[in-house]
Amino acid sequence: MSGIAIVTGGASGIGRAIAAALVAEGHNVTVADLNGPGAEQVAEELTKRGPGAAVAARLDVTDAVAVADLYRSVKAGMGRLDLVFNNAGIAVGGAAEELTLEHWNRAIDVNLKGVVHGVHAAYPIMLEQGFGHIVNTASLAGLVPMPMGIPYTATKHAVVGLSLGLRAEAAGRGVRVSVICPGFVDTPLLTNINPDLPKTRMSGDAREDIRRAQPRLYPADKLARDVMRGVRKNRALIVAPASAEPPGGPCACFPMAASGPRNSSWTASAPSNSATEPDGAPVRGPSGELPLIARPPCAGGSGRRRRAARSGCAGWT
Ligand SMILES: NC(=O)c1ccc[n+]([C@@H]2O[C@H](COP(=O)([O-])OP(=O)(O)OC[C@H]3O[C@@H](n4cnc5c(N)ncnc54)[C@H](O)[C@@H]3O)[C@@H](O)[C@H]2O)c1
Repeated sequence: MSGIAIVTGGASGIGRAIAAALVAEGHNVTVADLNGPGAEQVAEELTKRGPGAAVAARLDVTDAVAVADLYRSVKAGMGRLDLVFNNAGIAVGGAAEELTLEHWNRAIDVNLKGVVHGVHAAYPIMLEQGFGHIVNTASLAGLVPMPMGIPYTATKHAVVGLSLGLRAEAAGRGVRVSVICPGFVDTPLLTNINPDLPKTRMSGDAREDIRRAQPRLYPADKLARDVMRGVRKNRALIVAPASAEPPGGPCACFPMAASGPRNSSWTASAPSNSATEPDGAPVRGPSGELPLIARPPCAGGSGRRRRAARSGCAGWT
């Protein structure tokens, strides 16, 4: 059956790919984005492709009232709200000492409060109708600390915590909650670090540095297929690509929340990230990579965690 969906950040990258996958499955999608003309273009293209349809809405997720108005109007107009993807986000990076409060505040406003606004708007609607699925976009940086982008990693950890906490709370009330944790995905975000923010050494195009940490960037359309599969299976944590999963699977970090273990090489080239060069620049790894990925605090895990990961967890609910 076709459903009614909203995707924030739907004009580009991951949001656009998710909106495309939804329309391809016959859903009716509102593509919401700060970039209004971009959202319109995507909605038009997707509707032409069908079999579902898309409409566009200009939306700033930092505006709680605007988010609530949009979500309520979709429910009022379509009679239901099945799927909400709180996906809009920005990349904020730089060494801690370079970051201004503007960097921190923007990351918190868009990446965390944007999701909070989406959850706050969607959850009461879904509780009232007795069904619905909220899917929040975090990041792999929401499961493991990411140096050189601590406002980003802090907000993404918060989105993971918010989502898993809400999932447990909502489970008995008909509402599903999942959180997406992708590794690096090939989208314009990677070339637009610190948009409209003071410059740091990470500003602008970080694609080459990122490629040193993860040579093959994951395509957004592949991620969207993983997301659709994870949503259908009501996964708590949707980590993609599989090779990006933490050693022992996400269970190693969140024993109750994830699918089974997979082989992983994701920390294999991660340099130690605590040191700096004499000029204050962070120490690069053997191939010149910036320390973008830290060894997770839970790597290896306790015996209990390893056993939980080996057996595959039953899921948060
Ligand atoms: N690309 C990656 O490697 C990667 C990895 C993990 C997680 N993510 C997360 O995925 C999500 C989507 O990122 P992407 O890679 O597709 O980036 P992207 O830049 O391609 O798309 C992000 C979209 O969000 C929109 N947006 C930004 N601020 C907004 C706001 N205040 N209100 C509404 N829309 C706004 C932008 O206009 C853009 O269309 C983000 O939350 C990002 O943190 C990305």
